[in-house]
Amino acid sequence: MDRQVTYADLKLSRDSSPPSLPQDVCQGPPWHRFALKLACTGVILLAFTVIGLSATVIFLRQKSSIEKSSVDVQEKRNETTERPIPVKCPMHWHPLQEKCLFFSRDINTWHDGTADCSTQESSLLLIQDQEELKLIQNLIDTEAILYGIGLNFTLPQKKWKWINGSFLNSNILQITGDAKEDSCAYISQKSFVSEDCNTDNRWICQKYLKPLGNECPDSR
Ligand SMILES: *[C@@H]1O[C@H](CO)[C@@H](O)[C@H](O)[C@H]1NC(C)=O
Ligand SMILES: *[C@@H]1O[C@H](CO)[C@@H](O)[C@H](O)[C@H]1NC(C)=O
Ligand SMILES: *[C@@H]1O[C@H](CO)[C@@H](O)[C@H](O)[C@H]1NC(C)=O
Repeated sequence: MDRQVTYADLKLSRDSSPPSLPQDVCQGPPWHRFALKLACTGVILLAFTVIGLSATVIFLRQKSSIEKSSVDVQEKRNETTERPIPVKCPMHWHPLQEKCLFFSRDINTWHDGTADCSTQESSLLLIQDQEELKLIQNLIDTEAILYGIGLNFTLPQKKWKWINGSFLNSNILQITGDAKEDSCAYISQKSFVSEDCNTDNRWICQKYLKPLGNECPDSR
């Protein structure tokens, strides 16, 4: 009788046990549980990897957009600092590239022209090359009028010398006419010539353009 009861209990407990599949999986042989653990670990690792990757992608995106916007800011700053300097020539002065030019209406000797330019805080015109000469000649509206520029013939060296101290490079600019004592350089609409410094002619003064901001007295 004892045996029977035990049997019944056993049977009962077996019958009442829940569907045996999950129990079988979790309580299966050791290799089975190991495989399960491995799979779980794999899934978890995979999940972390995905999260990590997406975090990295988001981070990189944000970083690159921050970098991009700082480049934008940089570009904007460059735009404001490197765009052609806002400049203003004095009244009756003509802007040409980075210079302001003054074409005299009066006529006088070359030396008086020099003096006039210096009272206007400028100097007689210096010409860099053929291209600049052409640009300036294009601004001259009257034919056959000579304008003195900052170049004269200097004696000890017997050379044409710019008033800034450099000698004329005749590979760049050729002057026609006498090269002798008291010779000064003049330009007209079509020529670049030597004339006696004491003849009465017009003259051209130049000064370099200043950025507008520098005119503010407080900035000194
Ligand atoms: C802006 O100017 C700075 C300094 O002048 C220079 O190093 C930089 O390359 C410039 N950036 C751009 C986008 O032009
Ligand atoms: C002087 O002016 C001439 C003509 O513009 C130029 O070629 C030369 O480089 C200048 N020299 C100096 C020292 O600035
Ligand atoms: C040429 O010009 C320079 C500078 O203005 C001046 O000192 C010099 O006396 C001039 N030379 C002659 C021969 O007039």
